[in-house]
Amino acid sequence: MKGQFPVEKFKNIETPFYYYNTDLLRETLTTLAAEAKKYDYHVHYAVKANANHRILSIIREYGLGADCVSGGEIQAALDAGFPSSGIVFAGVGKADWEINSGLDNNIFCFNVESIPELHVINELAAAKAKVASVALRINPEVNANTHHHITTGLKENKFGINLDQLDGVLDVIPSLTSIRLIGIHFHIGSQILDLDAFKSLCSRLREIQDRLLNRQMIVEHINFGGGLGIDYEHPDRNAIPDFKSYFEVFHKHFKPLTNQQVHFEPGRSVVGQSGSLISRVLYVKEGSFKKFAVLDAGFTDLIRPALYEAYHKMENITSEEPLETYDVVGPICESSDCFGKAVDLNGAGRGDFIALRSAGAYGEIMAMQYNCRKLPKAYFSDLL
Ligand code: LLP
Repeated sequence: MKGQFPVEKFKNIETPFYYYNTDLLRETLTTLAAEAKKYDYHVHYAVKANANHRILSIIREYGLGADCVSGGEIQAALDAGFPSSGIVFAGVGKADWEINSGLDNNIFCFNVESIPELHVINELAAAKAKVASVALRINPEVNANTHHHITTGLKENKFGINLDQLDGVLDVIPSLTSIRLIGIHFHIGSQILDLDAFKSLCSRLREIQDRLLNRQMIVEHINFGGGLGIDYEHPDRNAIPDFKSYFEVFHKHFKPLTNQQVHFEPGRSVVGQSGSLISRVLYVKEGSFKKFAVLDAGFTDLIRPALYEAYHKMENITSEEPLETYDVVGPICESSDCFGKAVDLNGAGRGDFIALRSAGAYGEIMAMQYNCRKLPKAYFSDLL
């Protein structure tokens, strides 16, 4: 089945553009909020997946907090109405002005990745006579079984504090009087479909919690990060991710201590299926042994296929012609500007609309202006 697109309305719009199905986004958020509520879990939307102002404003309506990785994201979240008390700020390289922005806005928590960072936050907070709440991002050495570019929880990755360095960090903390340790944080990777990875994360957390308890330390907050994947192959059949099973894994395998709150930072699973990149076919070019469908969208609009060899389902939403096989490419002057090889599409001609599905996460936000191209605009199903 092809996604339901208002093709008639698209005819007056300049391509390429992002099209967001806000009904689906709202349904996804309703499901997510209901499933999290069952266990009193706190959800912070990972702004990095999509920081479009309208998308953020809709997400904020469902009572989620925001997980930010830069001063710019903190600002985007505040502009969209997220309360600063629900903002967590992560990132392996926070600049001083970004830390100051977090302090000035009294955000909920800094997720800290190293001893030098702890010292800097401590100093900047002291200069403002504030106490910064921090969570330690621990690298749990759990394999997420996902693409190596988006795996983050292994020892070789740059993220987090390694388990063998944790004691050293815990030793330092009492001397830092302008920070307060309130939590521990993890994020093992993205596009994770094997829920066993989260099971392993829970068991690692139990070990870490024991290490803390041995030091008479109890943290109030446990943050499991994001990472739940979406079905790129079947965006219509599995339009809403299985939040139920996802949270069940944590509920089953991790029992919080009394008064301990559990947090999550989903990004892709919230917005991924709600967005498509819509482009027009410029030319169908006959190669020596294959056909190319040359689109007006390129990797400047959606970089995931070029960067991670990611698959996005493609559909010719204006043709009922028999299927033909194409290499679907963009106009950028690089051979990596290819959305897919040997893709079956309904027979394509100049002007046909091609939808690249499941592009709501890490699509629009990663667009760039290489080749002096325009950034793609965004349109919403309820405002067309
Ligand atoms: N929390 C932290 C600390 C993260 O680093 C990330 C994503 C998330 C939460 C949200 O993860 P999600 O639920 O979206 O998997 N550009 C890549 C994905 C990079 C993910 C980076 N970190 C892609 O297009 O696949």
